[in-house]
Order: sequence, then structure tokens, then C-alpha cells
Amino acid sequence: MSGFDTVWLDLREPADNAARDPDLRQAAIESVVVAGDDVRVVDLGCGTGSTVRALAPQSSSWHWRLVDNDPQLLEEAANRLGMPGRVECLQADLSLLAAELFTDARLVTASALFDLVSAEFLERLLHLLGEREIGLYTALNYDGVCSWEIAHEADALVVEAFNAHQRRDKGFGPALGPTAEPVLSRLAEQAGFKVLAGQSPWHLGGDHAELQRQFIAGMANAAAETDQIEKAMLHDWRRMRLEMASRSSCEVGHWDMLLLR
Ligand SMILES: C[S@@+](CC[C@H](N)C(=O)[O-])C[C@H]1O[C@@H](n2cnc3c(N)ncnc32)[C@H](O)[C@@H]1O
Repeated sequence: MSGFDTVWLDLREPADNAARDPDLRQAAIESVVVAGDDVRVVDLGCGTGSTVRALAPQSSSWHWRLVDNDPQLLEEAANRLGMPGRVECLQADLSLLAAELFTDARLVTASALFDLVSAEFLERLLHLLGEREIGLYTALNYDGVCSWEIAHEADALVVEAFNAHQRRDKGFGPALGPTAEPVLSRLAEQAGFKVLAGQSPWHLGGDHAELQRQFIAGMANAAAETDQIEKAMLHDWRRMRLEMASRSSCEVGHWDMLLLR
């Protein structure tokens, strides 16, 4: 197990789909469609296949190489997507970033992944994609901004501690966390890509109460691990936020990006 379970991924998928920047999604699809039907797209950190579903219906005529290090999520993706003969599932540790992953690819996609990786990982990825003239569509990169309709005095402190935790190593070296978008923009421009970016914030109301609860619990656990915030204050923040999840709304900032050669 990778620590990303299907319950969490299923809870976030509708919110992710509503949040995706529609123009970048469309431009990503068009960058593949111009190459015809027989194209290969590689999804990094695929989870249960949410990116394939997000790019439907066009994505169902492409060949997909889905990459993840979690065999259970890969099996789930293969079962859910169906698409016989069009989905190849590869179990691989992306921190090693083998060049073979990109053989014959037209586009590489990644959702909710690049805040886990390091700047060195992105440099290596851009090098591999650049020399093969492959584009990159990356969605839902957390940007560090969270706000709630009803305030709590500890909001800013908790978000600060959570963002510090997001910078810890997640298996790829020091994680970019909330800096993923600006770092990727800079590196991609230096590597000669055309960079398009758009915001894709989650808007979570009472209809996403369970997603809010899981997000709040995860945030509080991460903040506690940093020791940056007093225990009683964090406990009160967690209690109030969990209690309010079905009655209050929150926004969580993300960025989508499309890099083209
Ligand atoms: C936040 S989840 C996103 C999943 C999916 N892209 C989505 O949007 O629902 C991050 C994914 O990256 C995968 N992952 C994390 N570290 C990895 C690594 N070192 N190698 C391969 N996959 C990894 C996890 O197993 C998980 O499926």
C-alpha cells in the first residue's frame, strides 16, 4: 500500500473533476487528438485511473500506460477502466524515473502528484520529455492556500504547519509541496516548454462533508507531527472543523498546468 487508499481517492475525484481548469483540460485533449487515435498517453501516479476518466470520452480511444508503485491501486484502475487492449499497468517506483516509461508517448499526465516530488525529479522528468518532444498535463497541484467560510483562530497556524509538513520527503527527496506550480513553471520555461497554467481550487460545501472531514483529519495529523502548534489549540481546531464540515464550506487551492513543445 502507498498510503493513498481508494476511499480517499474516491472522495476526492468528484471535487477534482469539478475543480480542473476546463480550458487546460480541453487543450490537453486537443494536443493528443491532433495525433490521431492510435496514440499513447502515460499517466504517472495513476491511483485508480482518475485522469483517464477526467479526460473521457476522448481518452477511451487512446492507449494508456498507467504507472504507480501500488499494485492494489493498479489492479483497481485496470478493473474500473475496462478498455481491453488499451490499458497497460506498470508497477514502478517513479523516483527512479526510468526513460522506458515514456517510449512512444505523445503526452504525459499526472494528477495530485507533483506536490509530492522534488525539484530534482521535475528537472529529470522535463529533460526526458523535452528530448522526446512529449507534452505534460498536470492537474490538482496543491498551492498552500486554504480558507474556511467560518473562521477559527488557529486556521493560519494549522495551514502553515501543514504546508511545512508538505515539504517533507515523500519518497522523491525534499517535496515541493505548495511550491510545485512556480517551480515547475520556472523549470519548464528554462527547458523550452510553452507553459499554460490555471487555478483549480476545490470548493467544498456540505455536499463534500466527508471529504472535508478526511482532509481536516489529515491536516491535523500532519500539523501535529511538525510540533509547530500547541496541542490544545490544534485539538480545538480539529474538533470545531470536524463538527462544522457539513455546515460550513472551504476552499483549497490547486493549479493545473499544460506544458507543450
Ligand atoms: C494523491 S494520489 C493521486 C492519484 C491519482 N492521480 C488521482 O488523482 O486520483 C498519488 C499517487 O501517486 C502514487 N505514488 C506516490 N509515490 C509514488 C512513487 N514513488 N512511485 C510511483 N507512484 C507513486 C500513489 O500510489 C498514488 O496513487
